[in-house]
Amino acid sequence: MIETSERFEEQPLEPATQEAPGPAAGSTGNDLGSTPPATPAPAPDAVRSPGVEAAIERGAARLEAAAAERARMRAMRFDTIAVHGLYSMAEALANQGSINEPAYLSPAQHFATSDEMEAALAYLAPSWTYSRIANPTLGYLEETLALLEGYGYEGGVSATVTASGMAAVMMATSPFLSMDPGVGGDRPRPNLVASARCYGGTFMLFSRYAAERGIEIRWVRDPLDLAAWEAAVDDWTRVVFGEMPSNPGLGVFDIAGVAAIAHGSGAPLVVDSTIATPALMRPLEHGADIVVQSLSKAMGGSGMTIAGAVIARHDIPSHIGPDDLRANFAQHVKLLPLRDLGPGLSPFSALMVMNDLRTLRGRVDHWSGNAMTVARWLEADPRVTEVRYPGLPSFPGHLESARYMTLVDGDSTGNVAPRFGHLMSFRVAGGPAATRAAFDRLQLIWRATDLGRVKSIATIPAISTHQQQGETGRELADIPEDLVRLSIGGEHPDDLIADLDRALGATG
Ligand SMILES: Cc1ncc(COP(=O)(O)O)c(C=O)c1O
Repeated sequence: MIETSERFEEQPLEPATQEAPGPAAGSTGNDLGSTPPATPAPAPDAVRSPGVEAAIERGAARLEAAAAERARMRAMRFDTIAVHGLYSMAEALANQGSINEPAYLSPAQHFATSDEMEAALAYLAPSWTYSRIANPTLGYLEETLALLEGYGYEGGVSATVTASGMAAVMMATSPFLSMDPGVGGDRPRPNLVASARCYGGTFMLFSRYAAERGIEIRWVRDPLDLAAWEAAVDDWTRVVFGEMPSNPGLGVFDIAGVAAIAHGSGAPLVVDSTIATPALMRPLEHGADIVVQSLSKAMGGSGMTIAGAVIARHDIPSHIGPDDLRANFAQHVKLLPLRDLGPGLSPFSALMVMNDLRTLRGRVDHWSGNAMTVARWLEADPRVTEVRYPGLPSFPGHLESARYMTLVDGDSTGNVAPRFGHLMSFRVAGGPAATRAAFDRLQLIWRATDLGRVKSIATIPAISTHQQQGETGRELADIPEDLVRLSIGGEHPDDLIADLDRALGATG
């Protein structure tokens, strides 16, 4: 988090063998939240003034207090965590009594004394220092995200927020994809194994890794096929990536099965669960190592900002990188690659997302119910040739979806409640021209490249979100030209169905 630390400037990019400074020995939980990032172990021979030593001790006490608060909140239920995060009454009293988390818009932190500054910039005491890397408002959001995504998971979890979902996908994969020393000649290229059924931006990013870094991208065409993952992963696999459910085809996969395959080769599994959100599915408890969220979507459902997050469990496997990458990946990302590459989140955006998160579970429940009603109606309509929605028994991944996607903490009576999210896609009878005509007749459902909103939105992926990957890429990802992606929000489903009915008109 410190801009000009010589020790950190000298770190080469993700060396395979070299040590980099990491979190304080014995640190557990999320070290990146309302308390600033934890510090690396001090150099044993360092000579420090009594003033600096005192600043270090004060910093250690703050870390301990934050760990205690984290443990207190971890015992609470999902909704309570979503509403409060780590923003306690004590924290409020230190912020003029404000019951909402304040927006700290200042890019830089003022230090009381040179001793405080020296301790902070040597990474020996927690500090904010500079907003590109750390900031109190970002910290509140990061603590909440780590607790929500880690809900039900026993071990430590940390989160780092990013400027967008794409920045999060990049930060969750790029650190594993440096070329190993000596690659070339007869040695195989490092590879990334990924489900081809993913967001078009992710498809393009991975294609960029291939073009710019020479990384081999091994696409898994059918993510339900465990044998295909098994065949793709080998000793040169640096990271395994899957989107669940996927945008726009709602592709699903067996997270525990794919995690076992990735771990068998020593690689981490990254899951983009933007469409599910932690209200329906938390991949870390099923064996995933890193979760990516586009907070621009349902988690920030009112649609006021673009944001993303990398949320990782501690002690992940990786063939590559310094020890601190494995010990606490999210913190590693924050202190090194994110610091150097610069895709940090604005505190103002963090505040917008935090406000939406407070109602996440209730919104996801409501939108899932609406989506189920609309999906059933579409499936029964002869003007529609196929509906892809995880909640329909006809959907090929229905059983896997039902296994992984349930409303956290159950329904209002506490019973297990399968819920399948807000997103679906469907094909219109009559082909691409009929599809476009129906799409153009929508009067309530917005035509836009967006999803996860309180307002229902439709798009045709082949001409929008997945246009850039070209016909071959779309064929690989199973995105036909007549596919409409539909994100269902908070309107009454009767009105949405009336709009779809009118739009489909005499189609087919
Ligand atoms: C599943 C998924 N992941 C990542 C992203 C990228 O998120 P952002 O638009 O916040 O960069 C999107 C965007 O639609 C998405 O649908």
